[in-house]
Amino acid sequence: MIHDSQSSKEILRSLSYDRVAIVTDKHVESLVWPQMDELHPFSKIVIDPGESSKSQATVSFILDQMHQAGLSRKSLLVGLGGGVVTDLAGYCASIYMRGIDVMHIPTTLLAMVDAAIGGKTGINTHWGKNMVGTFHTPVAILYFPDVLQHLPKRHHKAGFVEAWKTTIMCKPNVWKEMEYPLTRKQITDVAETKLTLVETDITEKGKRAWLNFGHSFGHAFEHLYHLEYGLLHGEAIAWGMLTEMYFIDENTHYRSFWTNWVKANIPPLPYKPEHCNQVIELMRSDKKNSADGQYFALPFPSGSKIVAVDEGQQREALRWLETIIYH
Ligand code: GLY
Repeated sequence: MIHDSQSSKEILRSLSYDRVAIVTDKHVESLVWPQMDELHPFSKIVIDPGESSKSQATVSFILDQMHQAGLSRKSLLVGLGGGVVTDLAGYCASIYMRGIDVMHIPTTLLAMVDAAIGGKTGINTHWGKNMVGTFHTPVAILYFPDVLQHLPKRHHKAGFVEAWKTTIMCKPNVWKEMEYPLTRKQITDVAETKLTLVETDITEKGKRAWLNFGHSFGHAFEHLYHLEYGLLHGEAIAWGMLTEMYFIDENTHYRSFWTNWVKANIPPLPYKPEHCNQVIELMRSDKKNSADGQYFALPFPSGSKIVAVDEGQQREALRWLETIIYH
């Protein structure tokens, strides 16, 4: 369940756990923690910010800190931060003493509309993103929209990408109303849309897979361009969605909107034709694949669908992307 600031404060004041620990990162600790009086009585576990923290080493560190803070099976772990923190807090809560409750307080737009919702947890491995993880639904998600004032514009835009994705897949009739920047009401509307979808399909056997639109190419772009070029997750997904729109034959209105928006608002993709094989190879080992092929979630004008796309078509999509990047 999603709570506004007032009910979130009340929840934090009336928690009935034997102990509570908060996982956060150094950025959030300096920018957001000072405003969160309700959290100050609890133990704090601080990790380094950034995607590279989604590792076994950070998991071991958090689990040790949970033990040192005296957390039991009746305790609560809270993730205060963006998607990296909520993924890690969810994962550690799901394995500590075979699982304790987790609650999230998302502090980025991307975590508010996507990462904190639906219980996906995980860490990265050398063979790919989020390859190890669990489904562990948070007992509550607390919203303090004022914290977004600290968010750099680039991160706001990266969050808008996931909000637009959920809207085009689940509520295509309202995509034209989704303009950057989002209002507070639009943020909670998108969060509720995602929550409603995932509640019926927590383990992604059906429609939850719609939310993977843009994530096959997107994860490959993120893997290739995050460390060297600093491409953010939402930015990689923005380019991934654009590339995957190639598989929708009709020239939809939203394709031209999205092409223009991405070119105007998202840093250029450092993709070059010689990266094609690496992108294809990374997508081949994507965890969304099954033995019978590679499937893509796409927003067709007649409704969202999951369709098989072979490697030849994927290569064509990358050639089409080149024409967009270089023109
Ligand atoms: N980020 C997609 C999902 O939660 O299923």
